Amino acid sequence: MLRELKVLGSYSLNRLQGRKSPLVATFALTSYCNFYCPMCIFGASDKEAQMTNALENDLKTEQWKYVMSKVAPHVIWSIVEGGEPTTRRDIMELLRHLHSIGLGFTLITNGSMLHTLDLKELASYGVVCTSIDSVKEEAYCKIRGVSPSMYKRVMENVRLLSKYNVKRAINTVITKYNCDEFITHEYFDFVRKELDVHAVNFSFVEDVFPSKYRLAPDRESKSRVAKAIMDYAKSHDDPFIATPFRYLKDMIEYGRAMYDACATWKVIFVQADGSVIVPCYRFDSPENRMSIIEHSIDEIYRHRAWEITDRCNECDSFSCVWYLAQNPLNIADAYIRGLISLIKYFATTRIGLNAK
Ligand SMILES: C[S@@+](CC[C@H](N)C(=O)[O-])C[C@H]1O[C@@H](n2cnc3c(N)ncnc32)[C@H](O)[C@@H]1O
Ligand code: SF4
Ligand code: SF4
Repeated sequence: MLRELKVLGSYSLNRLQGRKSPLVATFALTSYCNFYCPMCIFGASDKEAQMTNALENDLKTEQWKYVMSKVAPHVIWSIVEGGEPTTRRDIMELLRHLHSIGLGFTLITNGSMLHTLDLKELASYGVVCTSIDSVKEEAYCKIRGVSPSMYKRVMENVRLLSKYNVKRAINTVITKYNCDEFITHEYFDFVRKELDVHAVNFSFVEDVFPSKYRLAPDRESKSRVAKAIMDYAKSHDDPFIATPFRYLKDMIEYGRAMYDACATWKVIFVQADGSVIVPCYRFDSPENRMSIIEHSIDEIYRHRAWEITDRCNECDSFSCVWYLAQNPLNIADAYIRGLISLIKYFATTRIGLNAK
């Protein structure tokens, strides 16, 4: 707690002096992924080339530990992702390291390898957020580029999280293939009853390869889905919808996320090779990359390209970009709703226990 307060103090001081500095870290542990999602840069089909590149360029275990320890004093929380982070053999060792240095984390995963992790250990300190865009096999397989057997494996693995009592949530990307299940509530019922998961976050897909794949739903469908999710959240606590209403309202009213200026700098995003791309994937170029092994965080934050974020609002629907651009007060609704639903959850559980 003291650590987090210190970070918040120095972050606020930096902001008062007009300086950019991070609050959260993202560690993209590997550039390899075993899935083929058409919406994602890691979904490339040549997995052999991807693996060769990852083996050559991804940071090694000790380098990642060094990076994590270097970043930890500057942030309050971390996101562990990739590529697919669970394809690294040393994944538990790296998560254990984060725990040992007192930096909390959320592991974002496609769920395919969860059965290979020590879930009993993970239950004592980690949060796992599995990406499940659809609860229907056909749509899931289309969005993730995988076979029906992989769909079954992922669902089984999410049930394992429940069995081992791991803190868990689901991340869902809305595309043109999975609109209906939110409108009919089939998705929410399945997540709650079949997967025993009680928190979900939504993002509309960002078409990062618009000339190759257009996955975003049309304007009208976007609006209908966002409204259905918001209506569900207003009348149900379970699963808890972590997506702020404002994001959903933007989708209903404008068909895109609205903000004046992006603020990706609130997250220090370390790529698999140890570089920080300033400010984001869209402006990636050799001169906009800085190695976090060779440079201090202060040096990275003095990079001129961060200025792009002061005027950019090019991302249409990435919820992470939208979140970062907001004043925290504007998205307080999600936190307050979360708190209320947590209190209700404990109240009901206690009543249930007493009844026995
Ligand atoms: C890049 S993935 C890495 C972690 C892991 N492989 C997974 O799929 O959860 C991190 C998150 O980004 C989401 N994502 C990937 N491409 C996206 C896109 N074009 N628009 C919105 N979200 C996207 C994924 O669904 C996932 O929840
Ligand atoms: S599983 Fe994750 S990293 Fe892999 S292609 Fe899909 S979204 Fe990208
Ligand atoms: S809004 Fe602009 S700067 Fe921010 S992530 Fe998107 S393209 Fe990059």
